[in-house]
Amino acid sequence: MQVKNIETIKTFPHSMFKEIFEQPQVIKNIIGEYVDKKRKEVIFNDPDKILKKLKKINRIILLGCGTSYHAALSGKYMFSEYLGIEAEIDLADEFIARKVKTDSKTLVITISQSGKTADIIRAVRLVRKQKSFVLSLTNALNSKLDWLDNFTLYNQAGEEKALAATKTYTSQILLFILITLYLGKLQKKITPMLRIKIINGIIRLPKKINQILKQNVNLQIVANKYYKLDDLLILGKNYQYASALEAGLKLKETTYMHAESFALGEFLHGPVAISGKKRPCLVFAPLGKNYKEAKEMIKKLKKLKKKVIVITTQGNRQLIRIADKIIYTPKTLNLFNPILTIIPIQILAYHIAVLKGINPDRPRNLNKYVI
Ligand code: M6R
Repeated sequence: MQVKNIETIKTFPHSMFKEIFEQPQVIKNIIGEYVDKKRKEVIFNDPDKILKKLKKINRIILLGCGTSYHAALSGKYMFSEYLGIEAEIDLADEFIARKVKTDSKTLVITISQSGKTADIIRAVRLVRKQKSFVLSLTNALNSKLDWLDNFTLYNQAGEEKALAATKTYTSQILLFILITLYLGKLQKKITPMLRIKIINGIIRLPKKINQILKQNVNLQIVANKYYKLDDLLILGKNYQYASALEAGLKLKETTYMHAESFALGEFLHGPVAISGKKRPCLVFAPLGKNYKEAKEMIKKLKKLKKKVIVITTQGNRQLIRIADKIIYTPKTLNLFNPILTIIPIQILAYHIAVLKGINPDRPRNLNKYVI
């Protein structure tokens, strides 16, 4: 699969950098494939097949590994917030170990950009034996996963050469938004007005991502300031917990930094003991549902004399005198924040890797997919 119409800027020194910059186009590709812009609706191929199956469903299980698991976590929160569905979520290998019983009324959503990850393939085989309906999100046409599944949605992201998943992550989150809208219409849980508002927001996403990409030089300066750090603690709540987990993984795998992520509310239940001067905290605090709690945590951390780096929304001036460093992302619906807030971290991780002399495309000990 090719990414359509992406300008190849020759000055991209690494695939990871290029792929981060391809994100606006990937979002456009997904819109082109799955969104009817005029009718403001989500369109999936073979709707009869999927509709027939979905009508019978009374349980949803989300499965992924690594970055794909983090995208699934955002999906879980969307299903809960917009559909009132409490989906189960598991790491594919843990799911297999638990020998979970599923049946024909279970929808299993598997997420794997490569479509080749062994844990995922094994999990799919297991649930297919139990006659469950499998919907997979993958970037790989004709992959093993593609052949095994009942129904597949594609990331439309083109080849991702760099080891670190960037454009495939944000496209996975967008696919979850589309599934939420689709189910929301089917189950009459999302009003047409809200659906239109969300679809309009999706159409504006590429512009918003471009605004973040324009901060590249500033983020390079931030990378210069922090690249010698050995430890970073990362906090976020709800969608931003997924961002915190993904930020931790991105920084670990590309920069070898010890970056540990916590759910915001959990941090005070022990982990706060390990935060010291040499271990700054990165707090995801975009304006939206959980901003107040994030702001309170930032204040607490500052009272404890911690260095705090914050990701918040453009125009929010409340943290200027509190935080040590602020990175801004554009104003958006809270639902889109997990797409936007991770992008500055992808850029930071890239620059830190380069400053440390690490090839961000091929960090040590890792393969693009685990078989
Ligand atoms: O191809 P998959 O999405 O199944 O891969 C899952 C993980 O191995 C993958 O996301 C891994 O964590 C990446 N290195 C993340 O950048």
